[in-house]
Amino acid sequence: MYPIDILLEEHKLVDRVFEIIEKVRDKLEDKEEVPATVFWKIVDFIRGYADVIHHSKEEDILFDQMREHDEELSDDVQDNIAVLIEEHIEGLDYANEMHKGIRAYRRGDPDAREEILDAVNNYLKIMKPHFKMEEDDVFPAMVGVLSKEEKDKMKADFERFDEILGGKEVHKRYAKIVDELEKAF
Ligand SMILES: [Fe+2]
Ligand SMILES: [Fe+2]
Repeated sequence: MYPIDILLEEHKLVDRVFEIIEKVRDKLEDKEEVPATVFWKIVDFIRGYADVIHHSKEEDILFDQMREHDEELSDDVQDNIAVLIEEHIEGLDYANEMHKGIRAYRRGDPDAREEILDAVNNYLKIMKPHFKMEEDDVFPAMVGVLSKEEKDKMKADFERFDEILGGKEVHKRYAKIVDELEKAF
């Protein structure tokens, strides 16, 4: 598996959570109850997996390596990398807003449903096109300029990064959370 394939595999798991979040949004809009456990799992997944495991690999390893290929990448791709990094921060901010809204919802705050809805909609509005930009534009451009040695090193760096966070067990834990969330809907 090449390093970009590792990221694309991670995208597949996050894509499944996007679908779950859309279902939660529909329920909130229809004024239906959503179990607190569903919210906690979603927030845990966004922060622990989408942000720490996935976005950190992109920023700290892949995008970092791209700085050595500045001249080979178009201005558009370089601008897009800056946008992607900014969006990682915004996505995390919206996950934190979701978390605050969930706490308020649990306390019975009447405005909490709207707060969660805003956070959920903003998160999806940013992150779905974010994934598409990576898959259609930025990742292919990067693959084109990386040498075989760099790809091998990147793959090892990705694996080392995962090991620090608990290795395969952590990936299994998040895959289980996604399975459970899908079963809940
Ligand atoms: Fe990203
Ligand atoms: Fe990504």
